[in-house]
Amino acid sequence: MQSAIRRLVKEKKAIILAHNYQPPEIQDLADLCGDSLELSIKAAQTDAEIIVFCGVHFMAETASILSPQKTVLLPREDAGCLMADMIDPESLKLKIDQLPPMPVVTYVNSTAAVKALSTICCTSANVIDVVNSLDAPEILMTPDRNLARYAAAHTNKKVHIWDGFCPTHEWLTVEDVEQAKKAYPNAVFIAHPECRPEVVAMADVVASTSGMLRHVRQSSRTEFIIGTEKGLLYPLQKDNPDKRFYPASEKMLCKNMKKIGPEDVVRSLETMSGEVKVPEEIRVPALAAVQRMIDLALKKRAS
Ligand code: 13P
Ligand code: SF4
Repeated sequence: MQSAIRRLVKEKKAIILAHNYQPPEIQDLADLCGDSLELSIKAAQTDAEIIVFCGVHFMAETASILSPQKTVLLPREDAGCLMADMIDPESLKLKIDQLPPMPVVTYVNSTAAVKALSTICCTSANVIDVVNSLDAPEILMTPDRNLARYAAAHTNKKVHIWDGFCPTHEWLTVEDVEQAKKAYPNAVFIAHPECRPEVVAMADVVASTSGMLRHVRQSSRTEFIIGTEKGLLYPLQKDNPDKRFYPASEKMLCKNMKKIGPEDVVRSLETMSGEVKVPEEIRVPALAAVQRMIDLALKKRAS
């Protein structure tokens, strides 16, 4: 299957991008695995004609926003994001109208139509930089209340918070972390900022998925409790065979991130099925918000 996929990828001038939560067999066949920010940057920069996005719908949409001339395939069209579904453009418009004028910072885990109403996007890797780059005393952050509270703790701005969340991260409780810390007293606890604030407060390190990979690689410590979706344990263990990783809770599983299998990638590439295309009237304003975020990230990388 793997060699058939590689042949198809070459024939069709395609690239396979996979999020760090994807199943092991998908991560192993991808050209690039990464967090949401890395994958967005790659989608913007690649010269491949077809992007096969192994992740969830908003990620494929972001690739289409950035590269309208490319064909973006999501091998399972039903791979959605429960947090992205917690906001819609009509409700966001109402909220914007209720508040005094202020920038809207939207997590990339959102639909293109919501991005189109936003000033700038952010990911878990750059949320603090994005918020602090804005020349405004107040901001509205959507859709993740936990990421917004995390940002609020790292800025002097007043943050208005949309009440969405990621169920996979919300399931992790203080009691779960206490239990894990008791079971593995020498382990470093690393949490994703999508976790509840009281869980984030217990963390030794707070990072995006690729931030976690980088931290572990550079750390001299050997045991880690991982407070994010369990799929991340695969690249962590592969990268660091001598270190030990424990999920903060077995509940931390995102079903949508596990839908794509190698057979879906083959079918999608062979039949060009699962194309995700954002209509121009939404794509253009959404691009402004995504591009602002990417420009900021690239400026930071260069400095
Ligand atoms: P990152 O990989 O950007 O940290 O995103 C986490 C996530 O929940 C993606 O769905
Ligand atoms: Fe959405 Fe959470 Fe799943 Fe990421 S882990 S795709 S934020 S539901």
